[in-house]
Amino acid sequence: MNYFRDKVIWITGASSGIGEALALQLSASGARLILTSRNENALQQVKSQCTGPAAVLPADLSAGPFHDLVQAAISEYGKIDILINNAGIGQRATAEATSEAVLRRIMELDFYAPVLLTQAIIPHFRENGGGQVVVTGSMAGLMGVPRRTAYSAAKHAAMGYFESLQTEHDIPGFSITIISPGRVRTNLSLNALHGNGARHGQMDEGQEKGIPAATCARKIIQAISRQRKHVVIAGEEKWLWWMRKFIPPLYYTIARKYGSKDV
Ligand SMILES: NC(=O)c1ccc[n+]([C@@H]2O[C@H](COP(=O)([O-])OP(=O)(O)OC[C@H]3O[C@@H](n4cnc5c(N)ncnc54)[C@H](OP(=O)(O)O)[C@@H]3O)[C@@H](O)[C@H]2O)c1
Repeated sequence: MNYFRDKVIWITGASSGIGEALALQLSASGARLILTSRNENALQQVKSQCTGPAAVLPADLSAGPFHDLVQAAISEYGKIDILINNAGIGQRATAEATSEAVLRRIMELDFYAPVLLTQAIIPHFRENGGGQVVVTGSMAGLMGVPRRTAYSAAKHAAMGYFESLQTEHDIPGFSITIISPGRVRTNLSLNALHGNGARHGQMDEGQEKGIPAATCARKIIQAISRQRKHVVIAGEEKWLWWMRKFIPPLYYTIARKYGSKDV
């Protein structure tokens, strides 16, 4: 756990779920944290449970300017070592029912925000002799999932961007870790968007059966400390990913069967 001692770690989506669990565990490992999401009160709650230094930096990441936000984050401790792009929003609607506004809202937060924050922080990492970017993708970023067309597209796009960046960058000491979780028991389904922008407001059965956020966070932290390029963190649904890879017709049959359900 010494890997994280005194490191400055900026976590987006830190008010809830996976981000909150990351904050608590990284704080216990001696990291100095910057916590970002929209809900300042919830961030203060997370901060109050942290055992080490933590700064609250509220922001709506569905809109820039990202350069100013990065400068504000750097000014908290004078540097950033690790950026964890974790904020995200889900979807519960068919492609046909999903309005353009919802499609764009999901792309803004799940694709553009991690990309533009990363672009804005790279010069800092270049000057400081390195740094780490982590992005919470999804198993839906590795395969198509019913009623998640916009979400899956945004996560696929993020996967493509960050994997390409891994192959291209020439910054010494800089690494990128992409995390593809399966189902994790968080508020993701409660906060997911219907096609008209309404909040889904339900804890779906599949979400409920997901692995605990603390377990997911522990595995993410392990992947960060090992500077892994890509890890899939999931319970038994991991077999769907293998099925999609090796027996695609069976995957499509199963996915279509559940296509109309909130799973
Ligand atoms: N749970 C799963 O099964 C699962 C599976 C695969 C991938 N993931 C990914 O894991 C990440 C974390 O999700 P979670 O499961 O922990 O869900 P969650 O409990 O709903 O947390 C989502 C976080 O994102 C923040 N957020 C939402 N909209 C935002 C905005 N416009 N600007 C800034 N922050 C915003 C929320 O905080 P505020 O409301 O305070 O803004 C919250 O902290 C997401 O990227 C999600 O796609 C989750």
